[in-house]
Amino acid sequence: MNNVVLNTDVTKGTINKNIYGHFAEHLGRCIYEGIWVGEDSSIPNTNGIRNDVLQALKDIRIPLLRWPGGCFADEYHWRDGVGPREGRKHMINTHWGGVVENNHFGTHEFMMLCEMLECEPYICGNVGSGSVQEMSEWIEYMTFDGESPMANWRRENGRQEPWDLTYFGVGNENWGCGGNMRPEYYADLYRRFQTFVRNYGDNKIYRIAGGANVDDYNWTEVLMREAAPFMDGLSLHYYTIPGDFWKGKGSALDFEESEWFVTMKKALHMNELITRHSTIMDKYDPDKRIGMIIDEWGTWLDVEPGTNPGFLYQQNTIRDALVAAVHFHIFHDHANRVQMTNIAQTVNVLQAMVLTDNEKMLLTPTYHVFDMYKEHQGAQLLDVSVDSGTYEMEGDMLPQVNATASKNADGVIHLSLYNIDHQHPASVSIDIRGIAGGSLSIEGRMLTADEMNAHNTFENPERVKPEAYTDFTVENGQLTAQLPNMSIIQLTIHS
Ligand code: AHR
Repeated sequence: MNNVVLNTDVTKGTINKNIYGHFAEHLGRCIYEGIWVGEDSSIPNTNGIRNDVLQALKDIRIPLLRWPGGCFADEYHWRDGVGPREGRKHMINTHWGGVVENNHFGTHEFMMLCEMLECEPYICGNVGSGSVQEMSEWIEYMTFDGESPMANWRRENGRQEPWDLTYFGVGNENWGCGGNMRPEYYADLYRRFQTFVRNYGDNKIYRIAGGANVDDYNWTEVLMREAAPFMDGLSLHYYTIPGDFWKGKGSALDFEESEWFVTMKKALHMNELITRHSTIMDKYDPDKRIGMIIDEWGTWLDVEPGTNPGFLYQQNTIRDALVAAVHFHIFHDHANRVQMTNIAQTVNVLQAMVLTDNEKMLLTPTYHVFDMYKEHQGAQLLDVSVDSGTYEMEGDMLPQVNATASKNADGVIHLSLYNIDHQHPASVSIDIRGIAGGSLSIEGRMLTADEMNAHNTFENPERVKPEAYTDFTVENGQLTAQLPNMSIIQLTIHS
């Protein structure tokens, strides 16, 4: 039996809406085809941005988008991506497939996209192969309102008003593709570069330092020790890889029961990583001024057979959906430190929200989790305790179910539950406390599937999608819900 206690009158802070953030890199078919098709495309678009993807992202209330990388960020020179498109430089995207990057999607196009999505931009600057001057002039170009060489150039390129830019990352994966640096060296570089990331006028930039890879706790220790006063956020990257990064990550569609289990186990590992990195951050920043910014996470699987290995195109199943739910519950549990996360990546790359095939588009199971959980954005986290049964395989055990809940400004409660067990359903007893008298009105939605690798295809795009959920009873504040194997439930509770 699984028991949950939900204290509806005990709040634990705000769930930053940016926990539901996204990441779009110049990688494979994420930006080009996935988002940008150009104004002359036969694919319906608005100013070059494809309409179907735009609408899909609006529907999940995308709060924030990180761009242009990833590894790409540390070889991106922003000047190449402004001015008349036909005159923009072509370059080689050396990290991702060695393809030609024509720079047609640059600063103006990205900022326009964010305005269309009504989401905040999060730009990652180039430390690895760029200069302090280049970074500082990019900020001036985007955010300075007065007379200056960069602001004037922006106007010549068609944008009068500066843009609002809140989030800026000072390099990416500086321990790896961003320059293979030691933390001591990067900490000094960070201090130097961020000095010239200026606040012009009312634009106040939240500076994010490049953080650790997975469990590199020394990186966090050194960055916090040497540079904490100069940062607002420190990043962390962790991908869920069922196999081995170099020897074979595992197929997105063709996997065994044991791979399902290990995927869940590795997704749950995020909790330990956040806890241990947070403990180090607490030592230098006990008031939690500095946000933990998990600006890359999600499943990283083998590319679909026959596709370019440098394009990182993978299918997406109910397993990926459960991975997303597992992460959200962990992020909520650490909402006092985790201020932003960005799943990798929005379209056609890694654990994507949507997949496209020329003019066709489908929503992935992961998309549907973002849709179901969007109600938690900016809501008050409620106190929930979970006593879960076990999900066992070959002598190993994981907690089978979990729950998280929030209350929005109108007092509406959203309770999310999952059952990661690929085989066994779960009965969950939920003691709803703190609501005086009266009856509860509860509506439910569920995402589940009949096979571990159930997924959506262009031929059958709605195989995995949310359905109405009614398999619960309520009596005297006691809710009993039946969770099928491999399921995610969202309950909306009005009192
Ligand atoms: O998301 C794909 C890549 O993963 C990013 O470019 C890089 O930052 C990370 O290693």
